[in-house]
Amino acid sequence: MSRIFEQIGQFLGARPTPAPLQAPEPGDAATPCAHVLQVIKAQLPLRNREEFWARVFAAIDARSLCEIGVYKGAFAEHILRACEGLRAYHMVDPWRHLDDWDKPANHGDAQFEALYAEAMSRTAAFAGKRVVHRATTREAAAAIPDGGLDAVYIDGDHSLRGITIDLITMLPKLRHGGLLAGDDFTRNIWQHGTDFAPTEVFPFALYFAEATGRPIFTLPGSQFCIVNDPGTGFRVFDFGDYLSLSPREIYLPRAR
Ligand SMILES: C[S@@+](CC[C@H](N)C(=O)[O-])C[C@H]1O[C@@H](n2cnc3c(N)ncnc32)[C@H](O)[C@@H]1O
Repeated sequence: MSRIFEQIGQFLGARPTPAPLQAPEPGDAATPCAHVLQVIKAQLPLRNREEFWARVFAAIDARSLCEIGVYKGAFAEHILRACEGLRAYHMVDPWRHLDDWDKPANHGDAQFEALYAEAMSRTAAFAGKRVVHRATTREAAAAIPDGGLDAVYIDGDHSLRGITIDLITMLPKLRHGGLLAGDDFTRNIWQHGTDFAPTEVFPFALYFAEATGRPIFTLPGSQFCIVNDPGTGFRVFDFGDYLSLSPREIYLPRAR
């Protein structure tokens, strides 16, 4: 197995795909991207992702959010408690075993039943705000209105298939200037070792931003944020220092 990875490494060479790091231009101050840049900079350094996103969502005056992949509801509870201005919090998770999801968190149905109960109990105080979709992203998509969300936080199926579906499905759900953010933007794809499917949020989200012509922020703590601001176009604000990564660092398994 390791020989195969060595060969892949030789094939890939040592250069990452170049992408531009650009600051907004002076005349840009009124763009959604420039506003998000100010908001994000004010919250760095990032010490705790729940606290970081709660502050970012509050600063953009978020009314309507969606979390993809809720699990036991820890992130949802934090955001709902912290963001008083929220009116709707869409919680998307099938809370069931998935035959086509090769990740360690893919528990049996009984365990997911308990995780669902915990998520409901943690967020019970906000029952009037939460909108529960016990479904995969694709199954839930039709029930989430287009163009209305202030932000989506993607933390579900992090495989290449999963992040592809999540980004393509959720981009149209955002308002102009809304945030397409997420977790597990890991610097190496073998997040759970080579016995599980690789995590390909990075670099796919970076390429998705380029393909759809939107700015992206790479962030510490394996976080990312694309801004639905086609007027600004593709720019990389590399606060997480991803652009210096070589293909070997990204694609070869790390010593465990
Ligand atoms: C890492 S956990 C989420 C943790 C949660 N966001 C938090 O921070 O507290 C991943 C979750 O993604 C869900 N998931 C897996 N595949 C999914 C899919 N296709 N659509 C939506 N959710 C999915 C799993 O059921 C699991 O509960």
